[in-house]
Amino acid sequence: MNNNINNYGHQKEHPHPLIVSFISGKGGVGKTAITFNLGYILASAGYRTLLVDCDWYFGNLHILANVVPKHNLGELIENPSLGKEVATAVSENLFLIASPSVGDSEINYQNKEYAVLLSGVNDIYSDFDFILLDTPSGLIDLITVAANSSDMSIIVLNSELTSISDAFGLFKHLTKINRKRAVHVLNNRVQNSGESDFIFQKFSLLADRFLSRVPLSAGYLPEDKKLTESIAQQKPFFEISANSAAWESFLQLRDLLFLRDSEGTKTKEIINERSINRSGILADIKE
Ligand SMILES: Nc1ncnc2c1ncn2[C@@H]1O[C@H](COP(=O)(O)OP(=O)(O)OP(=O)(O)O)[C@@H](O)[C@H]1O
Ligand SMILES: [Mg+2]
Repeated sequence: MNNNINNYGHQKEHPHPLIVSFISGKGGVGKTAITFNLGYILASAGYRTLLVDCDWYFGNLHILANVVPKHNLGELIENPSLGKEVATAVSENLFLIASPSVGDSEINYQNKEYAVLLSGVNDIYSDFDFILLDTPSGLIDLITVAANSSDMSIIVLNSELTSISDAFGLFKHLTKINRKRAVHVLNNRVQNSGESDFIFQKFSLLADRFLSRVPLSAGYLPEDKKLTESIAQQKPFFEISANSAAWESFLQLRDLLFLRDSEGTKTKEIINERSINRSGILADIKE
């Protein structure tokens, strides 16, 4: 793994930006913190990265990014000709489309319009390498549209039973409406990799038994008070933290985004491989 966040050797692989959505059943699990910091690492390595705050009523990505946006996602939906003007520059390669909750006018959520916009977002931002969608918990229509428009959907959960249960409900919902969809799971705020493996295996076992589907692992992020501190200071985690377990986990998450090619062929191989390994995963679970 390349530990240097500035000199990352990968060339642009995607003719269109890769769209990744961070979703959850339960709120407060870390979607916004992960979206922002992953975007920061990608941009630091030279990839043009767009963050989209899809948290319709309570967006706060602009607070983490420490910018005052002039425009927001709702305006782009109402007036697509605004195009790139809607994005606020955060740093050289990092841009943000703020939540519709930023600004004066109250824009109500419209499922159809939102779906139309997201289906065309990679055309408007075709010169970008990555588009990361931060979503709210609870608004299931919005989460579904975001997941449908993404190349990769990552359910974020923590170790609390309620979070696992809500993540399972969301996984069930997504696999029900699209059986071919690959859904990743990211365990946040774990104490160590063992805790993450345990939760992922339990989740996979239940999913296999009741839904005949298993999720893919997007790894884990350890509990790290520096992440909380970085948010309070409105700074990227990487600016206030030296090499740490959480730092490594973020880099592994970055690397996961490169495990695909332009046609998605490699992804399919990965999915098949994971499905084959599924019996191994399940065999490991004794109860
Ligand atoms: N790995 C971590 N270690 C320590 N604290 C964390 C970690 N991940 C998230 N947090 C804390 O959890 C808080 C909530 O995170 P965040 O706002 O990103 O969640 P969210 O899923 O976006 O919430 P919402 O559903 O309300 O949008 C953060 O302010 C941060 O302090
Ligand atoms: Mg959030």
